[in-house]
Amino acid sequence: MTARHINGRSARTLGRVATQGVDRILISERRLRKRVRELGTQLSRDFAGSEIVCVGALNGVICFLSDLIRETDLMTSIELVDVHRSVDEGTHRVTLDENPFRETLEGRNVLIIEDIVDTGLTLTEIVAAVRRQQPASLKICALLDKPAHRQVHVSLDYVGFVIPPHFVVGYGLDYEGRYRNLPFVGVVEDAEWLPAMLAQAPSA
Ligand code: IMP
Ligand code: MG
Repeated sequence: MTARHINGRSARTLGRVATQGVDRILISERRLRKRVRELGTQLSRDFAGSEIVCVGALNGVICFLSDLIRETDLMTSIELVDVHRSVDEGTHRVTLDENPFRETLEGRNVLIIEDIVDTGLTLTEIVAAVRRQQPASLKICALLDKPAHRQVHVSLDYVGFVIPPHFVVGYGLDYEGRYRNLPFVGVVEDAEWLPAMLAQAPSA
């Protein structure tokens, strides 16, 4: 997929206060809406007749999850979990609480909803926590797949867009806490993103 060049509309959009520091639009609001609708339709078809629990990691997933569940015609409930990130001796670590869920997932159909899969470490931890609860089924839906920095293999059942290794913001995604409120996905060219840097560093 190629990056969107700035046209008249996006140039105006990028001039707003909320977009300061964003270099260009990668996925427009219109393309996001269309793709989320398609994913919702596909999920409604694939899960027809079942009730699902949507598991999402805070905070990045807020926009995607809230739009996606409204595009599905299914009985759903939601479990939002906190993810703790740290760097330990140069290694990026991701941990979840011992039991991060409010309700049990045992015997239920779980759909993990992720905003973006980069190294794959976050998703791997969420999958492990869900599996410990012995769900009846487990599927994964990610809005953005950024495979260039992958450190662990993860198998995604539904993907919105495969993107190049840019640091992206908007539609829930942040850089240093900012930009989650942008209605599009944009690129911040000079963002310093530790997991990506660690993934690219030559191994000792
Ligand atoms: P992973 O554990 O490296 O796969 O990264 C997943 C998490 O890192 C996502 O849920 C985001 O919170 C964050 N992340 C990864 N890439 C980006 C990005 O390009 N922009 C903003 N957040 C990102
Ligand atoms: Mg996330």
